[in-house]
Amino acid sequence: MVFFMYVPFVYMLCPQLSFSEPFLTEQGLPEIPSKFLNLAKRPELFEWMVSIRRYLHENPELGFEEFHTSSLIRSELDKMGISYEHPIAVTGVVGYIGTGSPPFVAIRADMDALAMQEAVVWEHKSKVAGKMHACGHDAHVAMLLGAAKLLQERSSELQGTVILVFQPAEEGGGGAKKMRDAGILENVDAIFGLHVSAKYPIGVVSTRSGPVLAGCGFFEATISGNGGHAAIPQHTIDPILAGSNIILSLQQIVSREADPLDSQVVTVAKFEGGHAFNVIPDSVTIGGTFRAFSIESFKYLKQRIEEVVTLQASVQRCNATIHFFENAKPFYPVTVNDQKMHEHFLNVAGHMLGIESIREVPPVMGCEDFSFFAETIPGYFYYVGMVNETQGPLEFSHSPQFKVNEDVLPYGAALHASLAATYLLRHHSQKVPQKRSFHDEL
Ligand SMILES: *[C@@H]1O[C@H](CO)[C@@H](O)[C@H](O)[C@H]1NC(C)=O
Ligand SMILES: *[C@@H]1O[C@H](CO)[C@@H](O)[C@H](O)[C@H]1NC(C)=O
Ligand SMILES: [Zn+2]
Ligand SMILES: [Zn+2]
Repeated sequence: MVFFMYVPFVYMLCPQLSFSEPFLTEQGLPEIPSKFLNLAKRPELFEWMVSIRRYLHENPELGFEEFHTSSLIRSELDKMGISYEHPIAVTGVVGYIGTGSPPFVAIRADMDALAMQEAVVWEHKSKVAGKMHACGHDAHVAMLLGAAKLLQERSSELQGTVILVFQPAEEGGGGAKKMRDAGILENVDAIFGLHVSAKYPIGVVSTRSGPVLAGCGFFEATISGNGGHAAIPQHTIDPILAGSNIILSLQQIVSREADPLDSQVVTVAKFEGGHAFNVIPDSVTIGGTFRAFSIESFKYLKQRIEEVVTLQASVQRCNATIHFFENAKPFYPVTVNDQKMHEHFLNVAGHMLGIESIREVPPVMGCEDFSFFAETIPGYFYYVGMVNETQGPLEFSHSPQFKVNEDVLPYGAALHASLAATYLLRHHSQKVPQKRSFHDEL
């Protein structure tokens, strides 16, 4: 049983700040990003984001179970006077800021934690045994709420509508797919997403145009033989031997059948079977993941994994069944960054942080379910550095020692807000105004 001690965050608007001149104007475009960054660094806004992030960190929830997270988000949106739709994909929330008319641009945060035990000893350690925000999604939610605050303060100046997407179940559950299939992207022109990074310094962002993360899928196979006495193998059909050969054969798909210049991975990460030194078991289970950067390579891997598992099992007289979990763990498409949005990003991040603070990231074989959004409408995914040299290196995500440097929060909030607000400024003239509310639009 977990008791959620939700302390409402009192947010005081500081009248001497921000409500000066309108600054979301076409002439003022180059200054918008640094203005948003300064506004995001206001102590009261920073502390509010920190308190949200710490509350979520203490109370992590797994995919499609983000009920308290979702309710915190909604209560903060209520306090800001931002309208939203809920529930979408179980716990998802979609908020709207601006005119309610096109253009529509979306900014996205994922909300889920991981099923692992936190090893960091600190005041705001996870209170839930076996669950931890070890990928920074707690920070992502705080940043998107921070962006919501920045944009809502300027909502009368927005030239269109910003859609806030708080999605469940990024870590394998395909929450983005569920939200997309619920229709949240209808009429939306573009979507931006970010991830905190333990690799790059604070104030640095990293990204690239084109494919940035792989497509991925998971599989599990059960190999059945006929167990018996370990000393009388002739009366058994040994599934451990069959499983071992299957694993070796699976490793030859990429090395012998894939184009060496087309990056692909097949990993068997799970091998279970047998309980005694002198008993051959009836069956073993293996499982793993496969990754590729094109649909063709991905489909080929899936087909060959299935063939190799079943045919190789028969070499040792075993039978095999294989599952790809298409429903519970949908295949994630390749995450591809749109070229035009890349230019927009370089412009905005360059004006905020300096062009030298934008690093090109090589594609990696990791995957992100942001790809479901980016396969439907133009999408853009980037990393926000959070390493402070003077505080030492940070562990990478999914480590039980993972830590977020909270100084990153204003950067993420300001990038979200700047990318969205300037996107609307650049695109509003191309849209024929329509007199429909966003509830009809979406
Ligand atoms: C494999 O499946 C066939 C056909 O169902 C069956 O006859 C055979 O006994 C099975 N072999 C093992 C080792 O389970
Ligand atoms: C890095 O950490 C030091 C010491 O805590 C701090 O003074 C400095 O402001 C930090 N730098 C950034 C960019 O946050
Ligand atoms: Zn993760
Ligand atoms: Zn993540």
